[in-house]
Amino acid sequence: MVHYIIVITLLALGLSPHCLSSKTVGGGYLYPQFYDHSCPKAQEIVRNVVAKAVAKEPRMAASLLRLHFHDCFVKGCDASILLDSSGSIISEKRSNPNRNSARGFEVIDEIKAVMEKECPHTVSCADIMALAARDSTVLTGGPSWEVPLGRRDARGASLSGSNNNIPAPNNTFQTILTKFKLQGLGIVDLVALSGSHTIGNARCTSFRQRLYNQSGNGQPDNTLDQSYASQLRRNCPRSGGDQNLFFLDFVSPIKFDNSYFKNLLANKGLLNSDQVLFTKNGESRELVKTYAYNQELFFLQFAKSMIKMGNISPLTGYRGEIRQNCRKINA
Ligand code: HEM
Repeated sequence: MVHYIIVITLLALGLSPHCLSSKTVGGGYLYPQFYDHSCPKAQEIVRNVVAKAVAKEPRMAASLLRLHFHDCFVKGCDASILLDSSGSIISEKRSNPNRNSARGFEVIDEIKAVMEKECPHTVSCADIMALAARDSTVLTGGPSWEVPLGRRDARGASLSGSNNNIPAPNNTFQTILTKFKLQGLGIVDLVALSGSHTIGNARCTSFRQRLYNQSGNGQPDNTLDQSYASQLRRNCPRSGGDQNLFFLDFVSPIKFDNSYFKNLLANKGLLNSDQVLFTKNGESRELVKTYAYNQELFFLQFAKSMIKMGNISPLTGYRGEIRQNCRKINA
């Protein structure tokens, strides 16, 4: 309500609400002060629970950052990824990108439980994820930004959207870029946001092909450093060990820095989708080099691109709802 009053007042004064908020891809406005009056402690609650979870398990920062991405690429940033299967809802948790892979749901549950006690029916699960992604970045040493808020939660999920829209690690550079463009994101966003792979883990099954049979001729990927490849093969055998875990950035796996890009320059990107940013396109190659040489530029662009991703088709106003339990729609 408050944000309508602000926006209407600005419009009446002949001012653009752009000065306060970011225009979203699907219409509606998000702005950082959305909960300032309705739930002044909202941001603090998210920060405290995330800090506790990351202190307990550093990888959780990566998992929470990824959750926001996998939410936003499917029907917009509307917390559809958090819904469990029930009634006509088929959970996105079952999709190829998410199955045995997406994690952090219990942390979101915990944030939501504290939030409902402090300010019932007020803060959306979608906003909680956007804040948790920012806090996770900051806690691991990355940049900070003000998170535009005011998203509402979806009353449905899309398993097919999750399977089709989220890029796969063996997609070509073009396919990955196309999937970003379909969300209103460009090549700069693609390269900067891929920098998230400076933290977190991937399973053997996500990159095995590169180690043994990259293009069907029984040979490893020739854009993968040979000694790094043989190291990886020790724990990622030709068959079995699918769930074995590897650091996406072996240099500083729990630190948000630009070593991910430095690794790409050394042909030591873990996923095929990482290395292609350096090998398959001139423009993206230059961006990789820029971020490898200049962490500050990477951090600046990362923050910008996270805000842009967070603006993908949110539900605002009277659309959607404020879920009481992030795992199910309200009765
Ligand atoms: C560009 C296309 C992308 C592809 C193909 C991709 C693919 C993947 C894959 C395959 C994994 C490992 C999953 C597993 O083996 O369980 C992963 C992990 C991860 N991804 Fe991406 N990703 C992409 C972009 C992004 C973006 C845009 C973000 C965030 C803004 C992101 C954040 C992460 C994080 C933080 C992890 C580690 C999660 C953890 O340790 O729990 N990725 N990604």
